[in-house]
Order: sequence, then structure tokens, then C-alpha cells
Amino acid sequence: ALQIVLAKSGQVIEVAGDESILDALIRNDVDVMYSCEQGICGACETRVLEGSPVHLDSVKDVAEHNSDRTMMICCSRAGTERLVLDL
Ligand code: FES
Repeated sequence: ALQIVLAKSGQVIEVAGDESILDALIRNDVDVMYSCEQGICGACETRVLEGSPVHLDSVKDVAEHNSDRTMMICCSRAGTERLVLDL
């Protein structure tokens, strides 16, 4: 399994490669902001501190994702074994 590390709480959460980060967080009772759950509103945008996401949203394009280092956790997934988020 892949790991999501929540930088603020130090919590480590396992996530499947085909599972959204949001689903994994909800499964572990982590309270996060989100709205559309479809990658279109941007409400769930979260800063990525380490690792690379697989971006599946339509809020930002590839260039914006690379420069901003954020991800829409409602639909996007972990692309590296360890993903550290600013949560
Ligand atoms: Fe709307 Fe994630 S909740 S983009």
C-alpha cells in the first residue's frame, strides 16, 4: 500500500493506488474540506510537501500543478509510495 503522511498531525494513512486521497482520509476520520468531489471546484486543494500525486482533477493543468505543488485530494491519488501533505 501507499502511504499518506499528514505533516501537521504526524498521522500516517495507508491508501490504495486506485483510491482517492479523500476516501482514505474519510475512512480514517480525518476532517478535511471538500465540496464537489469531482475535481472541478478546487475546495479540496491541498499543499503537497513531498512525493508526487496522480492528478485527476480539471481545476488545474499540468503546468499549474507542477508549479503550485498542490493537489485536489477529492479525486487525485498518490503516485509515489509516500506522499506528505500539509494537513
Ligand atoms: Fe471540488 Fe475537490 S472537492 S475539486
